[in-house]
Amino acid sequence: MSDDNTSEKAVKPRKIQTPPGIHDILPKEHDYFTFIKKVVRHRARQSGFRRISTPILEFTEVFDRSIGDSTDIVQKEMYTFEDRGGRSMTLKPEGTAGVVRAYVQHGMKEFPQPVELYYIEPHFRYDRPQKGRYRQFWQFGFEIIGESDPALDVQCIYIANKIFEDLGVANRLTLQINNIGSPKSRAKYVEAIENFYVGKERSLCENCLARLETNPLRLLDCKEEDCQILAQLAPKFEQFRSEEDNHFHNLVKEFLDELEIKFVENEQLVRGLDYYTQTVFEFWDSETGSQNAVGGGGRYDGLVEELGGESTPGTGFSVGIERLIYHMKQANIQVPSKDNVHVFVAQLGDLAKKKCLRLMDQLRERGVKTVGALGKGSMKAQMKLADKFGVPYTLIMGITEVREGTVIIRDMAKGQQRFVKMEQVVEEVVKLIGEENLDLYSPGEVTVMP
Ligand code: HAM
Repeated sequence: MSDDNTSEKAVKPRKIQTPPGIHDILPKEHDYFTFIKKVVRHRARQSGFRRISTPILEFTEVFDRSIGDSTDIVQKEMYTFEDRGGRSMTLKPEGTAGVVRAYVQHGMKEFPQPVELYYIEPHFRYDRPQKGRYRQFWQFGFEIIGESDPALDVQCIYIANKIFEDLGVANRLTLQINNIGSPKSRAKYVEAIENFYVGKERSLCENCLARLETNPLRLLDCKEEDCQILAQLAPKFEQFRSEEDNHFHNLVKEFLDELEIKFVENEQLVRGLDYYTQTVFEFWDSETGSQNAVGGGGRYDGLVEELGGESTPGTGFSVGIERLIYHMKQANIQVPSKDNVHVFVAQLGDLAKKKCLRLMDQLRERGVKTVGALGKGSMKAQMKLADKFGVPYTLIMGITEVREGTVIIRDMAKGQQRFVKMEQVVEEVVKLIGEENLDLYSPGEVTVMP
């Protein structure tokens, strides 16, 4: 054998990993995802929201124009590339821009207003991967487009709160709210902030120095200690809010009080996306604060127009599902799993296998969750597999049983087994499992239009 041949043989294809910050969702984790989706869907339906899915891939312009050129998301975090047709495309880093693009594109202005939509989708940001910060992450979000009223902002917060309560994490989170006013009052405030930082540049971190040029409001929520000290001394927005802004903000607070939703007023909360006007809010980890907020949102009265529609107000929020699951686990919240299997079917010989295929179908149609060893394993190997699945009962069919028209039912916990006639085995198993435990979920009947 030549050397070349030997080295060819020795090369084993290397294992491929997911890219940094991008993860598989394995079955155990999916129990949480499934449960959260159920809660979100229930709370959405209860309040008249309808589901929307926008594409994962949009023209880059959708995000440039909405999130803002100078934001971290647009500057550093978008997955942007040219497609084969030379168009600039971006994997969506957040959900609001796409929903608003869809509102304009599909003429939803003609629908009864406000239009209330929700989504549960993956998003992509080229963030530095760390705990709670991923490059692909899931969000659910709610958007109310078409009307401007503080009560609608509070509706969003109320729904988020209900979902947190349902999931057992509400007491781990603190609602932070602020009002960043209309674009007009904010422009005056930005000017005051710029003036305040004149001569203080040397105390700022590199990021803030750059933001002073591009997005001065973001200096207020920098996490660096020196920047935070300065931010505390900076002029407060309160002095720049117009009477209208104040009225709006006061109503938000009154409505929250009415619903007994606790909040902290936070003058420094500005959010990382440019489209906000008036109300902004975030749900913080009560212990660690602003780092890794679980959710956030606010009002975006200029966004529809920014994306080519008529001037139309909007408000909404979204929540990071991975961060939510982290809190559920921290709070020892167990979610129900429907993945447990009732029955394992073991068989020997092709004839038995044939009978088993039919039996498995009958069991499943009756609501018994059934798996079968349909490979070539010995009876011993099949019984080991049954143990692995943790099933309460195993059905065994060998050559003798096929000949005699019987099946063995084995009670796995007691280690006892008995023969049952083939025709009776399904009902016998149902009795053992209990009608109430059968998996008879039906998605609803379909109808054929005449
Ligand atoms: P956002 O604050 O950028 O807002 O994101 C909302 C939530 O998504 C965050 O609070 C966090 O839980 C989660 N999240 C963000 N980035 C990551 C990441 N790299 N890894 C894991 N989770 C992350 C928005 O996206 C707005 N669209 C919210 C909104 C809806 N405003 C109005 N309507």
